[in-house]
Amino acid sequence: MAAQVHYRTDGDVAVLTIDNPPVNAASHAVRSGIVDGLHRANGDASVNAIVLIGGGRTFIAGADIREFGQTLPPPHFPDVIDALEGSAKPVVAALHGTALGGGLEFALACHYRVALAGTKLGLPEVNLGLLPGAGGTQRLPRIVGPSKALEMILSGKPLGADEALKLGLVQQVTGQDLSAAAVAFARARAATGGPHPRARDLTDKVRGVDRALFAQVREQNARKWAGRIAELRIVECVEAACFKPTFDEGSAVERDLFVELRNSPQSKALRYAFFAEREAAKIPGLPDDLKPRSISSAAVIGAGTMGGGIAMCFANAGIPVQILDASQPALDAGMARVRDNYATSVARGSMPQARADAALELITTATRYEDIGHADVVVEAVFEDLAVKHEVFRTLDRVMKPGALLASNTSTLDVDAIASATHRPQDVIGTHFFSPANVMKLQENVRGEATSPETIARAMQLAKTIGKVPVLAGNCHGFIGNRILYVYGRECDFLLEEGATPWQIDRALQGFGFPMGLYLMRDLAGLDVGWRVRKGREAARDKSLRYSPVADRICELGRFGQKTGAGYYRYEGRKATPDPEIEKLIESVAAELGVTRRAVTDEEIVTRVLTSMANEGARILGEGIAIRASDIDVTYLYGYGFPRHQGGPMFWAEQQGLDRVLETVKRYEAEQGVLWAPAPLLVERAKAGKGWAA
Ligand code: 3HC
Repeated sequence: MAAQVHYRTDGDVAVLTIDNPPVNAASHAVRSGIVDGLHRANGDASVNAIVLIGGGRTFIAGADIREFGQTLPPPHFPDVIDALEGSAKPVVAALHGTALGGGLEFALACHYRVALAGTKLGLPEVNLGLLPGAGGTQRLPRIVGPSKALEMILSGKPLGADEALKLGLVQQVTGQDLSAAAVAFARARAATGGPHPRARDLTDKVRGVDRALFAQVREQNARKWAGRIAELRIVECVEAACFKPTFDEGSAVERDLFVELRNSPQSKALRYAFFAEREAAKIPGLPDDLKPRSISSAAVIGAGTMGGGIAMCFANAGIPVQILDASQPALDAGMARVRDNYATSVARGSMPQARADAALELITTATRYEDIGHADVVVEAVFEDLAVKHEVFRTLDRVMKPGALLASNTSTLDVDAIASATHRPQDVIGTHFFSPANVMKLQENVRGEATSPETIARAMQLAKTIGKVPVLAGNCHGFIGNRILYVYGRECDFLLEEGATPWQIDRALQGFGFPMGLYLMRDLAGLDVGWRVRKGREAARDKSLRYSPVADRICELGRFGQKTGAGYYRYEGRKATPDPEIEKLIESVAAELGVTRRAVTDEEIVTRVLTSMANEGARILGEGIAIRASDIDVTYLYGYGFPRHQGGPMFWAEQQGLDRVLETVKRYEAEQGVLWAPAPLLVERAKAGKGWAA
């Protein structure tokens, strides 16, 4: 038998234990081991029942995603399913940790399921652009009904063991020794004799279903699913479970559609994103034995929108946090905003009242720096101005206990310059959060020249603790995220002058999959902040380079975006309407600059935006500001709404072929000039004929 599945007997029950750490993914070796184990148990007259259980921290968490794309010999998933379901002796799946994807599908093919309290059961394939391809779309509706099955498979969210018990997905939940409970359960069922239930034989819940259910689901989600295919195929499969005359015919539909999805570029991008996120947490060069000290108390400087949002992140993770601001009225206003945010989450049903109350209890306020000196970490979230930040860090240096993590939520400024205000630059790091900080998942950590390995490791771990996805960036203006945003924003502004409108650019970007176009996003964030920054840097701006004054002109009209009722768009509440005045303004700027306006296509917009992102990304990678290309993609997926099923700007470029991307860059360089100079790394990698990896 394969080493990844151990066989033992407990009296008359054979126990197959999967041993494929860390998550017992159902690799080829695991599949072989299960089939062999079932064969052996069925051939042993002293065995009356079989238990399938995971060793270590979990049951099977799904197919081994790394195997997709490889050609492997049998047994394949359907072979294992047939062996489990066809076993003459009853098979009990004993679940703990996470029974996900193909793992849950194996369990559904077993005759019975017993779970340890706290187990999570789910079919998260949709997150990888897939559908449950080992019978999940056919068996689950037969057990829980099509409506609940659609909800589970389309959301990809797992259920708890208690809910699974109520739904009949498991037959017993135990708080005790899982293996012993499952063995006892199996023995008892064997004693009652067969035949043992098979989910495929259930028909009650999948017959007489109203077809309108499926039309409704498609219609309700049409906007959300625009451009994505996995969701549509999942609905087709569950529909097949209800309307195909036999289980096997429904399964054939599932098989075909699974193969289609597995081979689709969308699933490839989503699988890439899954691993990219995990890779980003790994920092080369940190000592292996480095165990960063944990963080159990926090302080945030500044009670503004960002400060409040960051404080909520700590509180949501159970970490007591103080918000410090100079004045009581500022703190009161900040706390009112925090309370409002929690109230909205409760009203939306995304957080139970008790959790919101518990989190709020953990947030306290202070006006004196001396009162926060004991905190393990302090995150500064004051106005984006170096002099102001210097002042704050000088004070933090004075009051914070030795070894405290000193973090700045700067989005563009020089982390070394900030650290220089202290006598402990080794403890200083940038932690760039994204607005709204309590919602957006990215935490862009920025290391300075003197930042210590311990500080880096601590900031990376902190992100995990508070539920963020960390990326480590080097120190430069705008780091990874905003540096690229600046470049593609600039290209969009040029496109306006050349003939596009803000609404056309937004429509094109949304068509590619961004949830919100650039100009809607700018209007939402407020145009005044960028304007102030530009004015501050105006003297230093290289006047020989092309510059679009459109954004400045809009601000000069007092149009700062949604909050003033007008920006690029005109607003009634949150509803944006294209504004002919802005079109006129753009036309007059173009005339002034001597730019001849022409018809711009949506396709050109998308290509120019993505190519500029990839070229700047290559520059960032070449300079060592990002550790790896996939870190740039993770930054964009989690901080800037880049559509996950497109993988990220660097993945996109690799899929196009770097030589093709370079050609486009060169074409723009010939047309637009030096701002489009190809990044040296792009030239090098395109010539090597490989992807971004050296
Ligand atoms: N295949 C291959 N590797 C996997 C994997 C999988 N299904 N799931 C996790 N891993 C790897 C991770 O890449 C990571 O590797 P690393 O240590 O080298 O970075 C390691 O296992 C640990 O994973 P996490 O860091 O994510 O550990 P957590 O404890 O935070 O989370 C988890 C565990 C909830 C199981 C999470 O890993 C997860 O959600 N995994 C994916 C589950 C999934 O999508 N299953 C469906 C797969 S598709 C399928 O089953 C098709 C079927 O229908 C035919």
